[in-house]
Amino acid sequence: MRIAAGSDHAGLDLKLLLVEHLRKLGHEVEDLGTHSAESCDYPDYAAAVARAVQAGDADQGLLVCGTGVGMAIAANKLPGVRAAVVSDTFSAHATRQHNDANVLCLGQRVVGPGLALDILDAWLAARFEGGRHQRRVDKIEALARHGDTG
Ligand code: RB5
Repeated sequence: MRIAAGSDHAGLDLKLLLVEHLRKLGHEVEDLGTHSAESCDYPDYAAAVARAVQAGDADQGLLVCGTGVGMAIAANKLPGVRAAVVSDTFSAHATRQHNDANVLCLGQRVVGPGLALDILDAWLAARFEGGRHQRRVDKIEALARHGDTG
């Protein structure tokens, strides 16, 4: 898969670990920053990754900040982007299977590196199930584009 990755300073170390893991698995990863531990603003990196996913330049996105929450709030402003904050392996596969989530958000201050790697593996292994879930995802997209589920 082509994966766009991003973090702020608070998610840098975990992002680097996960990017290395993804590359070892053979995925094509573009790290859109940040590239240093200097304090920066997470919405800038959420926007870069979300745009790559929205444009189809990346199949999936990965965002890491202190909590993962700010990244998800920002990334979800773009129609077509479904960013999910995940801190357990069940949610990691369920949000791919049911929500067709396309951006995984993690909190470096929330999950340790071992759990984060397991979450990423669960995310990668899962597939969207379609069917009734497609109808619901269509409603989310209608809400994002037209302000209503209809
Ligand atoms: C940075 O201190 C922190 O606010 C940020 O990484 C993130 O957790 C925001 O949601």
